Amino acid sequence: MTRRIVVTGTDTGIGKTVFSAGLSGALDASYWKPVQSGLDGETDSDTVRRLSGLTAERILPERYRLVTPASPHLAAEIDGVAIDPDQLALPTTPGPLVIEGAGGLMVPLTRELTFLDMFARWRVPLVLCARTTLGTINHTLLSIAAIRARDIPLLGVAFIGDENSDSERTIVAMGRTRHLGRLPRLTHLDAGTLRAAFAAHVDLAGFRDGGA
Ligand SMILES: Nc1ncnc2c1ncn2[C@@H]1O[C@H](COP(=O)(O)OP(=O)(O)OP(=O)(O)O)[C@@H](O)[C@H]1O
Ligand SMILES: [Mg+2]
Repeated sequence: MTRRIVVTGTDTGIGKTVFSAGLSGALDASYWKPVQSGLDGETDSDTVRRLSGLTAERILPERYRLVTPASPHLAAEIDGVAIDPDQLALPTTPGPLVIEGAGGLMVPLTRELTFLDMFARWRVPLVLCARTTLGTINHTLLSIAAIRARDIPLLGVAFIGDENSDSERTIVAMGRTRHLGRLPRLTHLDAGTLRAAFAAHVDLAGFRDGGA
């Protein structure tokens, strides 16, 4: 069966796209951003293409490309688009597939449907990206509780930022989950520095089994 992994996060701007680029490159995977809102400048797919070193055909086209830079439910309304969950079926790829949501778990896609609902429908193992700064224990444990309440497999937490050993240890112990690594903030971020940092700090073994 094709390995599929959903990269989600405790919040928007946490570093999911950068992490997804590192993971897609390391696994030699394809990448899919099902819903992109905001098309000015570099999209998440463009960023992954630039930072992963993957060829263009590995970046699958987004299912919904919304012009308005807002939560997908609102961006879709403003754009006059109806997001249909049946149109968000997982694509089939020859190798592994990394899927990136938008923002955090409970970001709405419509007034009735959140990303978490889609993740529950897909039942693909999740990686939860979390920052290391103050406030992360609360956000991360709440996100883990939401994932568990829906019986979605969780591979573990990937931290992003400077080391905060107590927060990291507390989250994995109280959340009864796995520490998948910590990607430091890179002062110079490009495909080469990301590949090296990912290899040094993220244990790929954590992405090979099923998640609990
Ligand atoms: N490890 C890192 N080192 C340096 N900069 C980073 C790192 N991770 C993320 N960033 C920067 O932080 C910003 C937000 O990161 P990113 O776009 O990956 O977040 P996101 O969680 O995907 O956001 P969104 O919810 O909008 O999809 C970007 O400018 C990115 O370049
Ligand atoms: Mg992103």
